[in-house]
Amino acid sequence: MSSRDLAAHADAWDTYWRGTRENAAHQEGGPQEPVLEAFWATFFAAQLGARATLSLLDLACGHGAVTGHALKVSPALLSHCSDYSFNALQGVQQRYPSARCIAADAGNTPFADGAFDLVVSQFGVEYAGPEAVFEAARLVAPGGTLGLLLHLAGGAIYRECEHNRDTVRALRELDILSLARAAFDAGFALNAGTGSPEAFKAAERAFTPAVRGLEQLLQNRGAQSAGGLLQQLYQDIAHMYRRMSAYAPDDIRSWLDGMDLELTAYRGRMQSMLDAALSEQAIDAAIQRLAADGFTLRDLSRLRVSAEAQPAAWALVMQRG
Ligand SMILES: C[S@@+](CC[C@H](N)C(=O)[O-])C[C@H]1O[C@@H](n2cnc3c(N)ncnc32)[C@H](O)[C@@H]1O
Repeated sequence: MSSRDLAAHADAWDTYWRGTRENAAHQEGGPQEPVLEAFWATFFAAQLGARATLSLLDLACGHGAVTGHALKVSPALLSHCSDYSFNALQGVQQRYPSARCIAADAGNTPFADGAFDLVVSQFGVEYAGPEAVFEAARLVAPGGTLGLLLHLAGGAIYRECEHNRDTVRALRELDILSLARAAFDAGFALNAGTGSPEAFKAAERAFTPAVRGLEQLLQNRGAQSAGGLLQQLYQDIAHMYRRMSAYAPDDIRSWLDGMDLELTAYRGRMQSMLDAALSEQAIDAAIQRLAADGFTLRDLSRLRVSAEAQPAAWALVMQRG
């Protein structure tokens, strides 16, 4: 990935992690799933049970969900959290003040070979590209363990991401943000005495089908699809449009700009999840290469989350010889 693409992806995640602190409506499901929690509880009980002095690295840690599971089992554990989103690391520092936070690309970390007894990642390292699993493995000390939960291509989370990405794509096709902008501008101009009722009516006529299209999307795809963003867009636009005279034009424009960025970042994140997911062939090839590097396979399973029929994640545990 070019450094420009990397920066764009990091920005998209930074927007997300800022959003989760400022607006709980944008939480994306996954990390708190009982099945995932159970996986980590078992993993850390086995790894940390008798040995509290191990060092842990949680790669592409987000807000440190995995670190949280480890600290439950071993509160004195020396944990390191790494992510390329500063907002994510700020969240980790608030939650787990004892954790050492390091901003880094998971595909190219600053750590020495074998620097950690345990290297873990949950829906994280694979975002840094297919080689990042081997970068994670490079950091595992002799006798140490690599524990990964990875997106599974074609699985339940994968399909949900596809649905969400396509929902945002369909929303974009409505061009609702530019049409809203034109309608608000015409409304403000009318209120200020610089525009005509005809111009306002024309802008509103152009805007109405986009609003109907959004209602249709909400009906067909569900209020919670795309992380609740469509629902929020609909409610906010309706509220501001009804009470236009209570707002300054610049407030509306910056709200529209913010929503535009949010939608772009959201769609980017969905696409990056799809790109990151591993097929069965890819996971088999990774295991073979790690085995050739001296790792032994301890667990490979497909995890199901919620009541989904399809598995959602690969659980991979390998130990360095
Ligand atoms: C789906 S979130 C998972 C976060 C966390 N592991 C969890 O389970 O809650 C993916 C994380 O990977 C991070 N990420 C994506 N690409 C990365 C890269 N190349 N280097 C470092 N972090 C990356 C994002 O910032 C985000 O925090």
